Amino acid sequence: MLDKIKELVDKVQQYHADSKESLEQFRLKYLSKKGEIGQLFDEFRTVPAEMKKQLGAEINKLKQLAQQKYDDAVSALENSVSDDSKHDLTRPGEPFEIGTRHPISIVKNEIVDIFSRIGFTVAEGPEVEDDWHVFSAMNFAAEHPARDMQDTFFVEKKSMEPDPHDILLRTHTSSVQSRIMEKRQPPIRMIFPGRVFRNEAISARAHCIFHQVEGLYVAENVSFADLKQTLLYFAKEMFGNDTKIRLRPSYFPFTEPSAEMDVSCSICGGKGCNICKGTGWLEILGCGMVDPNVLKNCGIDSEKYTGFAFGMGVERIAMLKYQVRDLRLYFENDIRFLKQFKSAY
Ligand code: DAH
Repeated sequence: MLDKIKELVDKVQQYHADSKESLEQFRLKYLSKKGEIGQLFDEFRTVPAEMKKQLGAEINKLKQLAQQKYDDAVSALENSVSDDSKHDLTRPGEPFEIGTRHPISIVKNEIVDIFSRIGFTVAEGPEVEDDWHVFSAMNFAAEHPARDMQDTFFVEKKSMEPDPHDILLRTHTSSVQSRIMEKRQPPIRMIFPGRVFRNEAISARAHCIFHQVEGLYVAENVSFADLKQTLLYFAKEMFGNDTKIRLRPSYFPFTEPSAEMDVSCSICGGKGCNICKGTGWLEILGCGMVDPNVLKNCGIDSEKYTGFAFGMGVERIAMLKYQVRDLRLYFENDIRFLKQFKSAY
C-alpha cells in the first residue's frame, strides 16, 4: 500500500492543469469519493492496527497534496481567463459594417431640413385618426368620394353615413393641420411628416402605405405669392438651383384656390424624356390657400388670418431623385437595394 501511495504522490506532483476539462478529470480521478484516494481510505479500514499510524499519515499527506494542487490550479485558471500571451494586442480592430438609412428616411429628413432653414418647425399627429380631423374639419363634403370605403381603411364606422366620430387610418397628413390649428393660434409655420394609408392595390406606382410631408403657414397677410416663393425655394434646394416650377389650377376641399405644382425634369433638364413622359415637367405636390372654412372649423379667426398649405409624397420625390421606377422596392427590405443610398441625412 505504501508503494501505491508513493506512486500516486508522484503522479499528483507531476500533474499540470492546462484546461478546465483536464482539471475536472483530475478531481474525479483523485478527489471524488470513488477516486483513487477515496479507495485508499476504504482499504485503510482493513489494514492491521500496527501499520495504521504510518499509513494514515501518508494517505493524509497525499490527500492534502492533491487538494492543494487542485485549489492552486482552479485559481490559476480563473486568473488567466484571457491569456494575453495568445493574443496579438497590436493587431488593428475588425471594422464593423455600418448600416445605411432607408431612402425614404433620407428624403424625409432632407425635406424637413430644407424647411427648417426657413423657420418651419416639425410636429406629428396620430396615424389612427377620427373622421373629424381627416375629413370633416378639412371641409370635405359628406358625399366626397375620398370618404368612401374604397379609399379609406376604417377601424370603427358608426353607420353607413359619414360621422365625425368614425375611426380610420389617416389618408393624408392634412389631418395634422386641423389637430395643430385646434390647439394653437397663429402665427403657425410648421411641417408634418408621417405615414398615410389608402386602400389601393399594390403596384409599381401605388401602395397602401406611403409617406407625406405636409406644410402649413398661417399668419396675418399670408399670400399666394408667399406660397409660390416658398415652394420655389424648396424645389431648388431639393432638385438643384436650375430647377423651375409651374403651378396648375386644381381642386382640394381644404384649399381655395388650389394648385398642383410641377418641377422641371431634373433628368432631361426640361427637354423631355421617358421619366417626364416627354413633357419636361414632373408633378410633385398639391397646395393652395387654406380655405376659410377650415380656419373656422379649427377656431381660428378667418377674417384676421390667412394661410397656405401644401402636401407632398415622399416616395414620389425619392423616386424622382434616385430614379427608382418601382415603388415596391421601398418596402421589400432588400439589402442590395437599400445599401445604395448614402447621404448626409
Ligand atoms: N392632402 C392632399 C393629398 O393627399 C395633398 C395636399 C394638397 C395637401 C393640397 C395640402 C394641400 O396641404 O394644400 O393628396
